[in-house]
Amino acid sequence: MKTYKIAAIPGDGIGSEVISAGVEVLHAMATREGTFSFQVDHFDWGGEYYKQHGVMMPENGRDLIRHHDAILFGSAGHPEIPDHITLWGLRLNICQPFDQYANVRPTRILPGITSPLRKVQGPELDWVIVRENSEGEYAGVGGRVHRGQALEVATDVAMFTRGGVERIIRFAFKLARSRPRKHLTVVTKSNAQRHAMVMWDEVATEVAAEFPDVTWDKVLVDAMTVRMVMKPESLDTIVATNLHADILSDLAAAVAGSLGIAPTANLNPERNFPSMFEPIHGSAFDITGKGIANPIGTFWSSVMMLEHLGEKPAADRLMSAIERVTGDKRFHTPDLGGTARTADVTAGVMEAIHAANA
Ligand code: IPM
Ligand code: MG
Repeated sequence: MKTYKIAAIPGDGIGSEVISAGVEVLHAMATREGTFSFQVDHFDWGGEYYKQHGVMMPENGRDLIRHHDAILFGSAGHPEIPDHITLWGLRLNICQPFDQYANVRPTRILPGITSPLRKVQGPELDWVIVRENSEGEYAGVGGRVHRGQALEVATDVAMFTRGGVERIIRFAFKLARSRPRKHLTVVTKSNAQRHAMVMWDEVATEVAAEFPDVTWDKVLVDAMTVRMVMKPESLDTIVATNLHADILSDLAAAVAGSLGIAPTANLNPERNFPSMFEPIHGSAFDITGKGIANPIGTFWSSVMMLEHLGEKPAADRLMSAIERVTGDKRFHTPDLGGTARTADVTAGVMEAIHAANA
């Protein structure tokens, strides 16, 4: 029997609540399938670790998880620590050195969930956003000079490499080809950003030639926000820069009903390093410790993890279990307007896993 080694990093805020729910569900999945199991190692990195050690994760931290099959991540962010420290010290400190350059964010309106877009039902909205996850606006290039003085200058330089752009656009075309619609929308801002974004467009045109069976179009990021709201059915697979996709994926989560549902995969497609799976909601300190965090984002991220591990039938079964549970309003947490608790949703999904016989 195959044993997958998973590194669980709950992080801060509701991270530990949703990750323990996720781990329970993964073990239940393994029991249900009977062909694989999980060995889950927990790492207590994050804000509390920082308060004790002055760093978000140990210096040799990446060596401790490098040989795991996948990473399940909760969230990073702490009310007493500046956000740029928590982000760069943990999440980006894993994503970037592990070259998880493809950040994949599916959006669908799951059964039982109502979109704030009046007319949109489930099937009209089925998107996957591919976020460039290794460079661009998050390259970390820049600095501050004359700190605190009137002359102070601060820069954040967006870095785009031809290789980096090519690999993410190619990844997105491949993903688009694997989906029924075979359509890719390339998000850009080449009217205002006349260097890197113009190269981005050129690379898209070049790579598109390798995918004659995929149709594609190009849209400016500001116009994209309008299109997502007004014509959601016109979109399928979407590729955008690190910052553009960061913003668009929050909009996507909102139109799909709740940020509490949205999943992410940070993929190293070449599999030289482990990939990392996480809900996109963040730490949510306002509800931490109350037992009401929505674990669906973590469960859906676990579906993506199972797919990445090659366990497609198990992934499909877990997704159906999730959809069964979202379809029943008794299992809606407060972010969805319900009163269910994390434990109720978890129990519901576990029951659906065992009940499913397909
Ligand atoms: C996301 C988040 C992060 C990001 C935050 C926590 C810095 O918003 O994963 O979308 O911007 O990358
Ligand atoms: Mg974001």
